[in-house]
Amino acid sequence: MSAEHASGLFITLEGGDGSGKSTQAELLSGWLHERGRTVLRTREPGGTDVGHEVREIVLHHRGDITPRAEALLYAADRAHHIASTVRPALARGEVVIQDRYLDSSVAYQGVGRVLDPVEIRQLSLWAAEGLLPDLTILLDLDETVARTRLDSARTRYDRLEAEKAEFHARVRAAYLDLAEAEPERFLVLDASQPVADIAALIRARVDPLL
Ligand code: TYD
Repeated sequence: MSAEHASGLFITLEGGDGSGKSTQAELLSGWLHERGRTVLRTREPGGTDVGHEVREIVLHHRGDITPRAEALLYAADRAHHIASTVRPALARGEVVIQDRYLDSSVAYQGVGRVLDPVEIRQLSLWAAEGLLPDLTILLDLDETVARTRLDSARTRYDRLEAEKAEFHARVRAAYLDLAEAEPERFLVLDASQPVADIAALIRARVDPLL
């Protein structure tokens, strides 16, 4: 049970593209269902109808999008998603398992796009009216390994995935810095381990929070 929300629990998954977030979200969600918890699985960008449209623009727009506009698009998606979907679920006492949240913006826009990470965090917190996760699971993976995984799974890359290896290396380093700055919120896992081992480590960390 979290101190901030009456009875719900807010868990986010972070990491580079191809680090296995959705697989782990699925496994954790199944385990929580078995334990009788109501789970909302959601994601950013795109966790709402409005967010779905924002997702199309921010990931698949053919022309240029300036870095600040990109940051604001993610923030707009977040503002709507948190207020309309996540907060109500937490208020009902549900466990929210979310693929990506504000740490993605700090890592990709703040550091990847070379905006100011502190400002991007403030923008996200403004958008979400200060909501922070109870737990953030960072699936850490070498960007070249992640790229090989993606290459075998993708027919097309979105605007962020299409960025150079150097961009993804900076995103990875940014995530590790974030985790170091807030060790009580983050669980950092080596995403090159077998899927079942990662899932077991996640369950061990979540269990006492229930
Ligand atoms: P994701 O949904 O994880 O991609 P996919 O469904 O294709 O696996 O994320 C889409 C991309 O958006 C990803 O490359 C990271 C990026 N992103 C940001 O740059 N900033 C953000 O705030 C968020 C939430 C995502």
